Amino acid sequence: MNFLSCLLAFLATAAGAAVTPKNDARSGATSISGTNFGYYYTFSAEDGDAVTYTNLDDSEYSIQWNDNSGYFIGGKGWNPGSAQQIYFDLFDITGQLAPRGLNSSLSIYGWTTDPPVEYRIIESLASDVDPAFGLTLQGTVTSDSSVYKIYRTERVNATSIMGIATFSQYWSIRQSTRSAGFVTIANHFNAWAAVGMPLGELSYQIIATEGHSGGGSGSVEVYTSSKPAGPCAAEYAQCGGQGFTGPTCCVSDTTCVVSNPFFSHCMA
Ligand SMILES: *[C@@H]1O[C@H](CO)[C@@H](O)[C@H](O)[C@H]1NC(C)=O
Ligand SMILES: *[C@@H]1O[C@H](CO)[C@@H](O)[C@H](O)[C@H]1NC(C)=O
Repeated sequence: MNFLSCLLAFLATAAGAAVTPKNDARSGATSISGTNFGYYYTFSAEDGDAVTYTNLDDSEYSIQWNDNSGYFIGGKGWNPGSAQQIYFDLFDITGQLAPRGLNSSLSIYGWTTDPPVEYRIIESLASDVDPAFGLTLQGTVTSDSSVYKIYRTERVNATSIMGIATFSQYWSIRQSTRSAGFVTIANHFNAWAAVGMPLGELSYQIIATEGHSGGGSGSVEVYTSSKPAGPCAAEYAQCGGQGFTGPTCCVSDTTCVVSNPFFSHCMA
């Protein structure tokens, strides 16, 4: 850490908002995790001097990187995760709704154990990153107004939440990149299971910003929230009316429209 980022980290910690990373003096690597405003957060960076993670209020966080020379990942979410519907919003420091910086991505990122799986639902991807390079397409799923391509890889003796382990990586990669919206995680879990990619017991699940080496610089501010537990009503299904006891929320991209006092339904 240089003096300025050290000072900024100290000031931010004094204000109760940020976390001072514990740097490993030999490698410059940083790794932190914990709970903030009731949300689980985790951050690690190979080049800890170049990347700053800050917990903001509620579900928000920011990450800034400058001349980054290593892999980093950070974000806030839930522990354990679930097949919930989440909302995210991604800002850069200039207030634009876009990921800023080279070699970066925004995803719903999580782990399961038994079997061990590291999964990503990628929503936004810088144009110089292609996580699917060389991989075989396993299938597609249409969810939240876009097609996602499904991929799988195996990692042998790699770093995992259980230490060094052999595990699967699952990917859903959104074809129309976006910087805000609802993500219906259940659609991805179901699509993966249907092509022989089962998950185990859910561990943490975060809205993650990731960066890769290449000397790039950038910054993001991410806001996230989750919808109430339980499935929402499908398009055309009933979502309200006198005496109705089913779900009163609608799947994403539809809203609950009142037809009469006894019947409301979800319409696109
Ligand atoms: C993975 O680790 C196991 C146990 O240490 C070892 O036997 C095996 O050769 C390793 N495999 C690879 C591909 O490194
Ligand atoms: C992105 O990362 C890859 C892998 O580390 C690197 O080869 C490439 O040069 C990077 N791209 C940019 C524009 O920094």
